[in-house]
Amino acid sequence: METILVQGAMTSEIELIIKLLAESNKIDIAEQNGYSFYETYLNGTRIIVSKTEMGVMNACISTMIAIEKYKPNIVINQGTAGAHLRELNVGDIIIGEEAVYINNTRSPAKKTGEGSNALEWHPGNSLSILVKATCELVEKALSIPYEGKVLCGRLGTGDVFSKEADRIDLLHSQLGEISEDMESVAVYNVCEKLNIPFIGIRVISNNELTGNSDIEKQFEIAQTKLQLFIFKFLTELTDNSK
Ligand code: 5AD
Repeated sequence: METILVQGAMTSEIELIIKLLAESNKIDIAEQNGYSFYETYLNGTRIIVSKTEMGVMNACISTMIAIEKYKPNIVINQGTAGAHLRELNVGDIIIGEEAVYINNTRSPAKKTGEGSNALEWHPGNSLSILVKATCELVEKALSIPYEGKVLCGRLGTGDVFSKEADRIDLLHSQLGEISEDMESVAVYNVCEKLNIPFIGIRVISNNELTGNSDIEKQFEIAQTKLQLFIFKFLTELTDNSK
């Protein structure tokens, strides 16, 4: 039987998907090693919605657990992200054609009292993780209708919430990411290593470059729009008539 794993870091990033799925089938809840999994069906396909919790390490661990426990055929990681381009607005969706690890930094040497300047940091040679999502899933996601902008691009991931415009511009020039989140590349890396088709889809909830900061109301609006999009994507993926 086909199984699709849908992930979100926080309750608010998965609750609407769960609510929409619950309209046609009952939901079973499981807890493992502190991570929550919601099991149900859509058009005969098993859907596992997983709360990964925030950050790179949680994303790795919960993805490993989910793969071992449910053996998914497809993994969809989704959630909010900050923009690393000025032209991105709250509610714009990014289909993560690729994801890059943005915590891979090296600083120049400075002595005691010489301070620290993140604008002098550059990516190190090791840990330069750049992973491509599964092409067919990227194409399918791009065909889903959305009232708003949908772009295809490179997601940036690290345990960081950047709010300094110069730092964001530098990161973008060094690594080419158009957004910043805390989970995508971790999931990409795990799925690629374990040979499971995967995709990451993010919605812009804040743009620190234009001063459109991370206020709660914006997060809510963005999360709602993305979950409606993801539900349409799931409906398309499980459509047996195609
Ligand atoms: N930087 C990093 N993570 C962000 N998120 C939303 N905006 C940003 C941002 N600008 C997502 C992360 C994490 C939570 C803070 O929201 O993926 O789960």
